[in-house]
Amino acid sequence: MATTKTLDDLFLDTLKDIYYAEKQILKALPKMARAAQSEEGRAGFLQHRDETQGQIDRLEQVFEIIGKPARGKTCEAIQGIIAEGEEIMEEFKGSPALDAGLISSAQAVEHYEIARYGTLIAWASQLGLKNAIPLLQTSLKEEEATDQKLTQLAKASANPKGTKAA
Ligand SMILES: [Fe+2]
Ligand SMILES: [Fe+2]
Repeated sequence: MATTKTLDDLFLDTLKDIYYAEKQILKALPKMARAAQSEEGRAGFLQHRDETQGQIDRLEQVFEIIGKPARGKTCEAIQGIIAEGEEIMEEFKGSPALDAGLISSAQAVEHYEIARYGTLIAWASQLGLKNAIPLLQTSLKEEEATDQKLTQLAKASANPKGTKAA
């Protein structure tokens, strides 16, 4: 019954949500790397793909800590964000603003992940899941660093390049 659900249930639900999301992101990043026009963008997406694999491994460790099987739960939010990114890839293919658009999609993904990890850390702390906290924090820091790198890449090259007609 809904009335008996507690923070443990929310924690597990959200863990399944980000586990599903990370697996979708793992598949999306190589596509974004292939689409990127700049070498830096391509390398950045591939590097974050490798980090994402590590984040999936950490989530599996968190499932282990709470004694539950690692299972994803369909996350419509990440599906929507990734679908919008694919739309940009199609609609801006071969155009000067493509990389700026790809970066904006990637940042929407990062912000979603940052929100999820932030919540999970707060709940892990409330629930006394001490061993889960450093795992989640390591991934949160990687997401934040990725977001910052994307901002730098946009400002330094993708945005200015996007203003010029090909
Ligand atoms: Fe991630
Ligand atoms: Fe990420």
